[in-house]
Amino acid sequence: MARLVIVSNRVPDPNERASPRAGGLVVGLAEALVPGTLWFGWSGHRAETTGTIPKVTDAAGLTYATIDLGEADYRAFYLGFANSTLWPLFHMMPSLAVFDRADYSIYRKVNEAFAEALLPLLRPDDLIWVHDYQLIGVAAALRARGVTNRIGFFLHIPFPAPAVLDILPPATDLLAELLAHDVIGVQTARDRTLFADAVRAVFDQAISPDHRISHNGHRTHIIVTPVGIDARAFNAMAVRASQRVETRRMIESLAGRALMIGVDRLDYTKGLPARFDAYERFLACYPQHRRKLSFLQIAAPSREEVERYRALREELDHKTGAINGAFSDFDWVPLRYMTRTVGRTLIAGFYRTARIGLVTPLRDGMNLVAKEYIAAQNPLDPGVLILSIFAGAAEGLPEAVPVNPFDIDAVAEAIHAALVMPEDERIERHSAMLARVQSESASAYCQSFVAALTGGP
Ligand code: ADP
Ligand code: F6P
Repeated sequence: MARLVIVSNRVPDPNERASPRAGGLVVGLAEALVPGTLWFGWSGHRAETTGTIPKVTDAAGLTYATIDLGEADYRAFYLGFANSTLWPLFHMMPSLAVFDRADYSIYRKVNEAFAEALLPLLRPDDLIWVHDYQLIGVAAALRARGVTNRIGFFLHIPFPAPAVLDILPPATDLLAELLAHDVIGVQTARDRTLFADAVRAVFDQAISPDHRISHNGHRTHIIVTPVGIDARAFNAMAVRASQRVETRRMIESLAGRALMIGVDRLDYTKGLPARFDAYERFLACYPQHRRKLSFLQIAAPSREEVERYRALREELDHKTGAINGAFSDFDWVPLRYMTRTVGRTLIAGFYRTARIGLVTPLRDGMNLVAKEYIAAQNPLDPGVLILSIFAGAAEGLPEAVPVNPFDIDAVAEAIHAALVMPEDERIERHSAMLARVQSESASAYCQSFVAALTGGP
């Protein structure tokens, strides 16, 4: 069997595989990879200059090869073009995007540096699988160096509408580089339609009914493979976690109240300010539920050197103070807000304890938190998932309570509806969603992508 080579900007620390840092890419892939796989990418460390010779580590059957990013490259490539240009634009928030030609040229240079450092590690029959918007140019750079292996690309984030993509000055070059892959995977059917729209608008070319396109003499297959989790293992972890002393302490601290939980990276795409506003509206409009519900929001700091992320943190600190100041009682705090990464097992236990999972991103590629919340529930007494219609996960989970996260009143109403939902309805919705989360698993994601990369239908 051919070896799989994963290429991604973020690579887990091999010593922390049991509890990886926050982020869907690392979580989704870590649960799916078969032994023997090589995982190549950024070490997460900064040095004076970007590394050329990868540091190789073997752990738990996988080989990790990583390079450091030079300080200037980290700023222009990672903080700059990847996370201040592509990230907001692809999430359909053009007003937050900035474009700097110098950053873009360093983005290209870093993609070339990744290709150059990976080259000596490659074997002729390796299947190469590149991940996400940070590394759109790696395949083209490998091809330019004579690599003829099959190369696939998976986009973890949404694909933007053509009118938004138009804003990006190098959109044509980036689309052409995407089409240098043999397979392109996206999270949802909607993303695939938008990708086809962009290709039609930019190259005046249509994608065939079997989702293939030939561009510059190269054929690319566009597939939909939603990222998933290992639901059975996650449920077992949640059951174990419910016996842990921290989970018991959490339950005691609730003093019989219901728990509502949100778990996210501290990212403006996750819709946290609007979520807090909706909770405040709920507390104001449904006084009968006051003192009967506690909302725990766990938010892992992310990309803190980007100004917009710093501003978000300040905004949320302020809103937390305002909500708790207005509604707290001497023995009840309505909003518990933690800005840190919490261990995966503990999070599983908290999900299981929570009557409501509140997942309201303004735009999200998939959102694994929604799937984790479903997997963690007790099927005989499950909680209710409130899910943004703008999360990729909503395409596969129609039994969640759907909300438009921009509609504060609708989210407040959904919280009320979830609290009063009868047990049989909760069970019915949950069992339909659990079946989907179990079948759209981490391993199904990996296997279907690799099958397409091997040349399957
Ligand atoms: P993204 O990839 O944009 O961060 P996802 O919802 O797809 O969004 O994936 C987030 C992953 O990171 C999930 O597995 C979630 O459990 C984990 N995560 C998010 N926030 C935290 C946190 N505060 N502490 C620990 N894990 C977190
Ligand atoms: O899901 C999108 C994504 O950019 C992933 O690539 C990554 O795992 C996650 O968000 C966290 O972002 P970062 O790698 O910038 O910390």
